[in-house]
Amino acid sequence: MCGIVGIITSEKRNLVPEIVSSLINLEYRGYDSTGIAILDKGAIKRVRRVGAPSDVFPPEEISKELDVSESGFSLAVGHNRWATHGKPSLENAHPHFDCTGEIAVVHNGTILNHETLKQELVKLGHTFTSTTDTEVIPHMIEQKMKEGLSLKDAFLDTAALLEGSFGLAVISTKEPGKLFIVKRGSPLLFGILKNTIIAASSSNAILSYTNTFIPLTDCEYAEFAIKGDEVTYRIGTTFNKNQTINKPVETITDHSLADISKGGYESFMKKEIHAQPSVFRTTILGRYDEKTGDAVLGGLIDHEDTLRNAKGILTVACGTAHNASLVGGALIESLAGIPVRSEIASEFRYKKVPLDPKDTIIFATSQSGETADTLESVKEAKRKGYKTFGVINVVGSAIAEEVDAGVYARAGVEVGVASTKAFTAQLAIFYLLAIKFARERGMTAQEGRALISELEQIPDLMMKTLADTEKRVIALTERYTAKNIRVINFLGRGINVPVATEAALKFKELTYLEAGSYPLGELKHGPIAVIDENSVSVILMPHDELFAQNKNSLEQILSKNGNVIVITDELGAQNLKEQNVDIITIPTLKHPLLYPLLEILPLQLFAYHYALALGNNVDKPRNLAKSVTVE
Ligand code: F6R
Repeated sequence: MCGIVGIITSEKRNLVPEIVSSLINLEYRGYDSTGIAILDKGAIKRVRRVGAPSDVFPPEEISKELDVSESGFSLAVGHNRWATHGKPSLENAHPHFDCTGEIAVVHNGTILNHETLKQELVKLGHTFTSTTDTEVIPHMIEQKMKEGLSLKDAFLDTAALLEGSFGLAVISTKEPGKLFIVKRGSPLLFGILKNTIIAASSSNAILSYTNTFIPLTDCEYAEFAIKGDEVTYRIGTTFNKNQTINKPVETITDHSLADISKGGYESFMKKEIHAQPSVFRTTILGRYDEKTGDAVLGGLIDHEDTLRNAKGILTVACGTAHNASLVGGALIESLAGIPVRSEIASEFRYKKVPLDPKDTIIFATSQSGETADTLESVKEAKRKGYKTFGVINVVGSAIAEEVDAGVYARAGVEVGVASTKAFTAQLAIFYLLAIKFARERGMTAQEGRALISELEQIPDLMMKTLADTEKRVIALTERYTAKNIRVINFLGRGINVPVATEAALKFKELTYLEAGSYPLGELKHGPIAVIDENSVSVILMPHDELFAQNKNSLEQILSKNGNVIVITDELGAQNLKEQNVDIITIPTLKHPLLYPLLEILPLQLFAYHYALALGNNVDKPRNLAKSVTVE
């Protein structure tokens, strides 16, 4: 949660438009309040507002409010907040100051011992103006400077006292040509130009300057200083302040500025839904061998024996990534016959799981690679002796670094808060993993080849699905939002159940309406009580071997006057045309296990258009942030 940015330049200019634009590119991390502090005319000046920077921070207005010098200035920090400690309000928005207003801090993360530190500081006479955990940081730095430390030492000593996670940037009038950053547990990197350095929580904020950057690892800090017409940097660690660390400059290759702009679409979510055909193609590219009918996953190459000998698989993830893991589990069990247990990471990290780490392997799935519950689950699993593998989207993220090995999802930057293209990219990896496990355990080369050849067709079929279903989906959402719909359930059987769960999650996130998801056969054991003319049941039922059972359940819903939408293939649509149901037809597939890849598309569109019809913000649904780095 939260995004921070800091800019230091030897070439004085008005940095407000730059900070605002970087904050807009970080909005996906949080957007309930926002703030900027600049060091200008020897003083720190700050503007804070409740809301997202794209809504509440017009750069010209903010420059006026800050009374920016005509000659410009050299130092600025900014912050997008996603409230964890203290409600979203002006007082709680960052940057936070010390008592004198001479030190400004922006922080991403959570300080677990903030109450103890605050009590000490209050006893020493410090006055707090917010209910955030962050505010202890500028006061602690102030305190340590009062006791005689330099800004840098006070900053590093303070960082050493903090428990929890942080990415921090600090400026002070005491050293007007310097910017300090430090991190533990929260991402932080910086991009270098000759006369400017920009540090931020994510490369998204840096890409308009440069695609080369240096990421900090935990307990590293960086000190930036204006020297003549250059800005220099020095990296050290919090436990050895005087040692200088030389780190290579990395180049961002997995995404570009185009990834973080809407590219002609009215929203990021719509762009990302429609990007799925090309994302799927990219994700599987070069990762299979048509001749041997096998998957070729370079990231796992050093662990072939572990994978071959695994007797069980445990998946850990949260939210959409968990739903993708559930589909993955069904695939692996069905194709490779390996038992798979799927745990929600916030449960797994605190629970006894009676599996043997000697022959059970763990797959942790995460789009952001930052999710605290998933990260802690991986750490806990490693402590218990499991081998851990990742299905991660963000290259170099905390979970990607923590796992023993893994396969990147290659979905590119996902800006829409509700995950869409990352889900199908994660599914793509699970199809490849299932083929890999299966080919080691009895699947024939012909079977492998047949599956791969159909996977190769998926991008075109996804394109067809999106093109053929969107209008119909819009008409349905218009009809149902105009009615008094009280209940909406997403239903299916087998591998379609987790797709129904993902559809319900998308629907809840975007429409703010409660939605259920059940195995269709379970309906009669209780949930059918909610069915009446004000309910909608969305049933995922391709024409597979359970079609007759599904049709029977569908008829039970109709007999209770429920509205029914069916997602099915051409044969299924043909078979149901006499029924009083709304049909969304997706292309016919040879292999029934591949249907999740197409079914999810009209369901994402359904949530999207339903939310639009309700007037909701589809890119930034209320109460949600893109990466959940707190418990
Ligand atoms: C849903 C959504 C969340 C995330 C979950 C895990 O649209 O985005 O449910 O899937 O918070 O996030 P990652 O995948 O970043 O670990």
